[in-house]
Amino acid sequence: MKEIILERVNERDVPTFIRLENSVTDAKTYPWVMTEQKAKDKLKNEIIYFIKKENINVGTIRCILKSSEHMYLNGLVVDPKFQGQGIATTALEILLANELKDFKRVDLVVHPHNAKAIMVYLKLGFIIESWKDNYFEDGEPRITLSRIS
Ligand SMILES: CC(C)(COP(=O)(O)OP(=O)(O)OC[C@H]1O[C@@H](n2cnc3c(N)ncnc32)[C@H](O)[C@@H]1OP(=O)(O)O)[C@@H](O)C(=O)NCCC(=O)NCCS
Repeated sequence: MKEIILERVNERDVPTFIRLENSVTDAKTYPWVMTEQKAKDKLKNEIIYFIKKENINVGTIRCILKSSEHMYLNGLVVDPKFQGQGIATTALEILLANELKDFKRVDLVVHPHNAKAIMVYLKLGFIIESWKDNYFEDGEPRITLSRIS
């Protein structure tokens, strides 16, 4: 899918970033609600990309640098209007092949019922590493997936 590109999010993009993040909130698997303050904090502490399809912002990817060899994926969102077209898969492929190509370890946590997300990660070479009950102290489990290169 050639028309997908990634573009860094900056301060002036906060309203669009909040809209995309809040388009997918799910009580069980993705319970977070983005506010303006949280968005500004995340911009300071995370590397955030818009996923753009034909120049429309259709999703976000958020990364946290853990070390020179280890990147943590802290979020992956595709606006429901654009889901099911391979956009998350293509965007992550691009990220892994370019911005993250020198990281030996890329990892993330995901709710075990989040089948769509898990399918995307498994297709791209992530493996299931561990399970933890009540991971975010929200009463729900999460699994850790990692991709080691
Ligand atoms: C997870 C998410 C980013 C996927 O975005 P997307 O652009 O629709 O993903 P893709 O189209 O690239 O791939 C989805 C895959 O899931 C598969 N899938 C869809 N519904 C499924 C289901 N119920 N069970 C299993 N697999 C399913 C699709 O078939 C597709 O795989 P395929 O391309 O091999 O057919 C999107 O659903 C989302 O934003 N979810 C809410 C936020 C979230 O949970 N993010 C992940 C947090 S770790």
